[in-house]
Amino acid sequence: MHHFAYRDGVLHAEAVSVATIAETIGTPFYCYASATLERHYRVFAGAFADVPSLVCYAMKANSNQAVVATLARLGAGADVVSHGELKRARAAGISPDKIMFSGIGKTADELALAVDEGILCINVESEPELTSLSTIAASKGRNAEKLLGIRVVGIDLHIGSQITELAPFDDAFAVLSRLVRELRADGHAIEHVDLGGGLGIPYHDGSEQPPLPAAYAEVAKRATRDLDCTLIFEPGRIIVGNAGILLTRVLYLKRSETRNFVIVDAAMNDLIRPTLYNAFHEVRPVKEPAKGASRIVADVVGPVCESGDFLALDREIDEPSPGDLLAVMSAGAYGAVLSGTYNTRALVPEVLVKGSRWALVRPRVEVEELIARDRLPGWL
Ligand SMILES: Cc1ncc(COP(=O)(O)O)c(C=O)c1O
Repeated sequence: MHHFAYRDGVLHAEAVSVATIAETIGTPFYCYASATLERHYRVFAGAFADVPSLVCYAMKANSNQAVVATLARLGAGADVVSHGELKRARAAGISPDKIMFSGIGKTADELALAVDEGILCINVESEPELTSLSTIAASKGRNAEKLLGIRVVGIDLHIGSQITELAPFDDAFAVLSRLVRELRADGHAIEHVDLGGGLGIPYHDGSEQPPLPAAYAEVAKRATRDLDCTLIFEPGRIIVGNAGILLTRVLYLKRSETRNFVIVDAAMNDLIRPTLYNAFHEVRPVKEPAKGASRIVADVVGPVCESGDFLALDREIDEPSPGDLLAVMSAGAYGAVLSGTYNTRALVPEVLVKGSRWALVRPRVEVEELIARDRLPGWL
């Protein structure tokens, strides 16, 4: 479910024509729909409204402050995995008592920052990390009964991403629930369980629909019913995945005997998921195609000098012409956050739409700015 649809023959994000945005800021760019972000957060959080719970949005999926602030206003906390994400969460208005810190390789400086900020919880992921955290916390005068400087308040799991069945969650939650009982028997006061993220989204129309949050909630609540714990969740993709699209313009059509290529101005440096994970993103024309318009099978590729630079392979699409705009759908999660400047390409901008308003929420970082960051040593 999302808020990108044709109106008067042109793809709109809510009430804004994406063609108008393209004319104003150029292409490529990411465009997010506030209404989709808000709806997905509300549906997910609402499924747990009848139990003590906290939804900590996984910022790794999309950490633009405008996105995070939109969710913060609805009551979301944040799951962060770096010093940078922790600072962004705070800058976007998330209070420390709603921040979880996950990740297997937190540095001493990151642990110290988390302790100083007084965040809700640090998800410790190894014994050496526990020792390091204990030393840091004790050095800052934190005291607790069992481990020097540390209070064990909960346990956390995250079993993967883009999971489209409930059975793996069911199995994992059963293990977690047994572990809570064992830890309590050992004298730990477990107050919360963090059930991670991972619920999948539909990436194409014909695909099997992943379980709805309500069905997922039923599984989670059943497994944790007798634990008397607050439930914490770290969803990323399900909140933001279908709330964003990547807009690109067709540069050339290149035909060979065996293959057609649609060469566009967005590339793997803007959206790396297709080449990194073989991920599927629907490609739609911004101008609504007429009934019976011709279709072609083509690779949609970018201008980067790499054989892996593609957005779609062997895909049947409406036949575009040079200059046409295309929308790469479901690109809100793990899109802009993974973008870069390979081939000295400008860093892709991001736009947030709300109703009939839109704003640039990350301007394009222009080539001149990138070049100006290099330094020539005096001895060269
Ligand atoms: C620890 C942790 N929590 C939450 C998430 C978010 O997962 P998703 O975007 O699939 O909901 C991830 C993503 O890999 C993760 O590693």
